[in-house]
Amino acid sequence: MTRIGILTSGGDCPGLNAVIRGAVLKGETVHGQDFVGFLDGWRGLVDGDVMALDRSSVRGLSHQGGTILGTSRVGPYCERGGPEVIRGRMAELGVDAIIAIGGEGTASASKRLFADGIDIVGVPKTIDNDLDATDYTFGFDTAVEIATEAIDRLRTTGNSHKRCMVLEVMGRHAGWIALHSGIAGGAHAILIPEQPETIEQICEWVSSVRDRGRSPMVVVAEGFTLPHMDSAHSTKGLDGFNRPRLGGIAEVLAPEIEARTGVETRATVLGHIQRGGSPTGFDRVLATRLGMAATDVVADAEWGHMVALRGTDIVRVGFDDALANHKTVPDAQYQEVRVIFG
Ligand code: F6P
Repeated sequence: MTRIGILTSGGDCPGLNAVIRGAVLKGETVHGQDFVGFLDGWRGLVDGDVMALDRSSVRGLSHQGGTILGTSRVGPYCERGGPEVIRGRMAELGVDAIIAIGGEGTASASKRLFADGIDIVGVPKTIDNDLDATDYTFGFDTAVEIATEAIDRLRTTGNSHKRCMVLEVMGRHAGWIALHSGIAGGAHAILIPEQPETIEQICEWVSSVRDRGRSPMVVVAEGFTLPHMDSAHSTKGLDGFNRPRLGGIAEVLAPEIEARTGVETRATVLGHIQRGGSPTGFDRVLATRLGMAATDVVADAEWGHMVALRGTDIVRVGFDDALANHKTVPDAQYQEVRVIFG
C-alpha cells in the first residue's frame, strides 16, 4: 500500500480542504492508498509533525475555508531541512510520496526536491490565478465573488456621498482579480500590474464619471504601478519567501485623485478577506477534481508533475513547464475593457 503525505504550503486560499478531501476519498477508494497530513506545510515534513488523514477526518470538508493542515511560508530547504532530513522523516513515518498543494514558491521547492530524488507531485493553488500551466486555480473564483460584492457595497455608499471609491484587491504579478471583479462590478477604471496608467489618465476617467453625475469606482490590484514607480508599493518589509509584502497602493492613489479632481475620495484595502471563508461551487468542484487527479499521478508514479485545468479537462504538467511563465492578463483582454473606462 502506498502511503501519501499531503501538505498545504504558502498563502492559503478557499478550496484547499476540498483538495485534501478529494485526494483522500479517491486515493482510499480507488487506489488503496493511505494518507497522513503534514502540519503547517513544509514545516511539518521537516519536523515530522503529522496528523492522521482518513475518510472520517475529511468528512464534510469541501465547503470549509482555510486548510485543516495549516500552512506556513517555511521552505523545505530551510536550515534544519533539506533532502536528507526529508528522506529520513518519510522513512520514519512510512511515507512513500508527497502531494504538495501550493503556489509558485511551493512548486519551485517541489521541483528542487524532485531533482533531489523525492517522489513528489503538485497541486497548484493561488487566488491570484497567475500560474500559466492551468487555466484557473481554485480560490480565484471565490476571491472574485468577494471582491465583486465589495464593489457593489462601495458603490452604494459612494453614490450616497458622491465620492470616488478606490478598492484595492490582491494580485501581485497579475491583475486577474481586479479585472474580473472590476468588470463584474461595473468599475469605471481597473488598474493592474501589467498595465501602468498615468495619474492624469486615471483622473480623466474619474472626472468624466463625475461630470455625468455618477460616483467613480476604481479597482486597483496591489501590484499596480504608476509610470514613475520602479516596483509595486510596499512599506511592510519582506515575507517568508523574501518577497516584498504588498498593499496600500489604493491609499497612495486616493489623495492624488482627490487633489487633482476635487472629488472626495476614499480608499479600501480588501486584504485577506479575499482569501477567507467558504469556497464557491466552482472552486469546490475544481479543487475536488484536482485532489482526486493527484492520487492518479501518484498511482502512475509520474513524479515531478502537477495537475492542472486545461479547458474542462484535468491534465498533468511537468514542474518545469508549470513554472516557465506567469499567466498575466494579455494586453488584448485589458484593451477590450479599457475602451469603456470613465
Ligand atoms: O500570492 C498570493 C497572495 O494572496 C498575494 O496576492 C499577496 O501579495 C500575498 O499572497 C499575501 O501574502 P500574506 O498572506 O503572506 O500576507
